[in-house]
Amino acid sequence: MKKLKDVEQHLRQHRYHWLVTGAAGFIGSNLVETLLKLDQRVTGLDNFATGHQHNLDQVRDLVDAAQWRNFTFIEGDIRELNDCVRACEGVDFVLHEAALGSVSRSIDNPIGTNETNITGFLNMLVAARDAKVRRFIYAASSSTYGDHPALPKIEHQIGNPLSPYAVTKYVNELYANVFGRTYGMETIGLRYFNVFGPRQDPHGAYAAVIPQWIAALIKNQPLRINGDGETSRDFCYIDNTVQANLLAALADKEAVNQVYNVALNDRTSLNALYQMMHTLLRERFAHVADHKPQYVDFRPGDVRHSQADVSKAAEMLGYEPTHRIGDGLKQAMDWYISDLARQG
Ligand SMILES: NC(=O)c1ccc[n+]([C@@H]2O[C@H](COP(=O)([O-])OP(=O)(O)OC[C@H]3O[C@@H](n4cnc5c(N)ncnc54)[C@H](O)[C@@H]3O)[C@@H](O)[C@H]2O)c1
Repeated sequence: MKKLKDVEQHLRQHRYHWLVTGAAGFIGSNLVETLLKLDQRVTGLDNFATGHQHNLDQVRDLVDAAQWRNFTFIEGDIRELNDCVRACEGVDFVLHEAALGSVSRSIDNPIGTNETNITGFLNMLVAARDAKVRRFIYAASSSTYGDHPALPKIEHQIGNPLSPYAVTKYVNELYANVFGRTYGMETIGLRYFNVFGPRQDPHGAYAAVIPQWIAALIKNQPLRINGDGETSRDFCYIDNTVQANLLAALADKEAVNQVYNVALNDRTSLNALYQMMHTLLRERFAHVADHKPQYVDFRPGDVRHSQADVSKAAEMLGYEPTHRIGDGLKQAMDWYISDLARQG
């Protein structure tokens, strides 16, 4: 926590201008909230493809009126170079989160995923390069490990991508590396592993497992587990992810033009995850005691196990996760419940 405290202290004394792309999404809106609370100036860019105005409204309600005045929102599309150029004007740090997430979505629509995640990413790199931003931090992904069998995952040991989404996230790393070498840009890729927390969308065919299951348990709806339930993931609470972004932006020069795992070096099976949620929710909703999951086929493109070695981020960025999975679930539970009530 020492490094994080130092960075927060520094930010309270120095106001930078940040661009958060994907600002209306889950991770982006949490970054905007933290930065505004640290009195930073923030521009958000989003086209609402999967993000929501209500995420930005929640941020507005969580920060002071004066802090909210430091926020500018641009409704725009990273597939349009002009929108990226406009958003990068006068920016110190870019936190690039905008992308079409989800392995399944990319299998259904590889062209759409490619346009946003590769063409959009390249537009953002070019715009950030031309605006001479100090540093470009981007959301990479654990999907880049593909079929490599090693556990825990170490940054330089990657296998073959298992989905179009994984290809796009790997290409991001390749482009960032080339922009470092060719144009002297400072980039850092953060390979997120199954992030969860407030403002993650529980709805739609491509919703992530944690918000989707919590919604199903609360509404007493069927809940499907893909495969035998022993598939495992390194679930990472949003506060850890936000921390990694702040640290990456202000890390020493030796840390740049590299990628870092961001998670916990922990592994939770889907069965264990279900049990954790079941235990937390049956205290509040009597019907949950009788809820049982349905087991269905394995999903194509899914890796069987995932667990991050986070020692590189710890050593080079000073990353120290503050929340284990259970802490995160407890902390976010009130939000999940009130969000479902808000939606009726
Ligand atoms: N959530 C996770 O577990 C996880 C894991 C690994 C990597 N990531 C990456 O983290 C980033 C953020 O993911 P998230 O979970 O917050 O997803 P999200 O869908 O909540 O947020 C993505 C945001 O990007 C916006 N966006 C999409 N296409 C755009 C475009 N063409 N122009 C402008 N904005 C656009 C969406 O409207 C949305 O607000 C993504 O790059 C994702 O690939 C997420």
